[in-house]
Amino acid sequence: MSKILVTGGTGYIGSHTVVELHNAGYTPVIVDNLSNSSIKMLDQIEKIIGIKPEFHQFDLCDDTKVLEFVKNNPDINGIIHFAASKAVGESVQNPLKYYHNNFFSLINLLEAYREKPINFVFSSSCTVYGEPDYLPVDEAAPVKKATSPYGNTKQIAEEILEETANAYDNFNIIALRYFNPVGAHESALIGELPLGVPQNLLPFITQTAIGKRDKLTVFGNDFDTKDGFCVRDFIHVVDLAKAHVAAIKLLEKGNPKGKYDVFNVGTGNGYSVLEAIKAFEEASGQKLNYVVGPRREGDIVKVYGDVTKSTNELNWKAQLGIFEMMDSAWKWEKYLQENPID
Ligand code: UD1
Repeated sequence: MSKILVTGGTGYIGSHTVVELHNAGYTPVIVDNLSNSSIKMLDQIEKIIGIKPEFHQFDLCDDTKVLEFVKNNPDINGIIHFAASKAVGESVQNPLKYYHNNFFSLINLLEAYREKPINFVFSSSCTVYGEPDYLPVDEAAPVKKATSPYGNTKQIAEEILEETANAYDNFNIIALRYFNPVGAHESALIGELPLGVPQNLLPFITQTAIGKRDKLTVFGNDFDTKDGFCVRDFIHVVDLAKAHVAAIKLLEKGNPKGKYDVFNVGTGNGYSVLEAIKAFEEASGQKLNYVVGPRREGDIVKVYGDVTKSTNELNWKAQLGIFEMMDSAWKWEKYLQENPID
């Protein structure tokens, strides 16, 4: 069965994708510089799948290392590229770090694989739609000017990949536009490991519930939405991981739509931040301490995806609902309390 390079494979979405690739009969090979993840995730993955995945620690921004890896691993025929910096706030403070890391790594990989047939799946984001003009937003919606350097790296990377796929025969590429990934593997052995104070909603909720944080501050409740809170399309990380396997399969079969394609990866359902909190309280049996504070600059008010294209053409559809998302996120937080991973 084919070998798939998973860059960023010890990270949150990467580790779940390594498990799903293995379950689907692929051999995942991880490259990670461990800048935002722990080597211990390899042991955690092993507890789930029974074998420790092959692992190489280096920075993809180092072109010599990338070329050496390609030379020593001639049997890789697919790449899922997660490795990237992803904190929106930090990208505003330090844009050059984002442009450096996210572009050098991408371009080094593409250049190193110029000589062989490669299926390439890229981690993109619904952030490319900005505040959409219509909902649910589909893939034909215009890409709006990015509100952060992080968002800009996703937009420009999509352009680089489309031009690359069209210019060189050997590349077939799919960009997956994720909505809001949450939750953890049902075993509670892998999940999100935020460094420092979490910026995203779900880890902040679970860390508050377990007592690591005093309270959650909700950023505004006076938006023009059903209950005044922002609305998001939360997607279970295991469903998201399976979307990557579906993308590799479509590329292996030959995507009839051509050498470059994009797909929304969400559930198609919009839940407000308040609804997410209520769902968490129900799944965990915990009352969450939260207060409503001022809006966060740059937040999108409402976004959820039209998943018709991924359902029909990627042959993938989310199976898990908001209860499973919250329940698994909570089990993972409780696991971490008993078994800290640094
Ligand atoms: C952001 C990025 C997105 C990125 C994603 C994952 C933008 C516009 N979006 O999504 O590109 O892929 O992070 O890193 O840059 N919230 C609170 N209190 C908190 C944290 C969050 O109320 O402490 C609210 C936010 O205001 C928002 C919702 O929860 O309404 C989701 O926030 P978050 O988890 O940060 O994700 P996004 O902002 O949707």
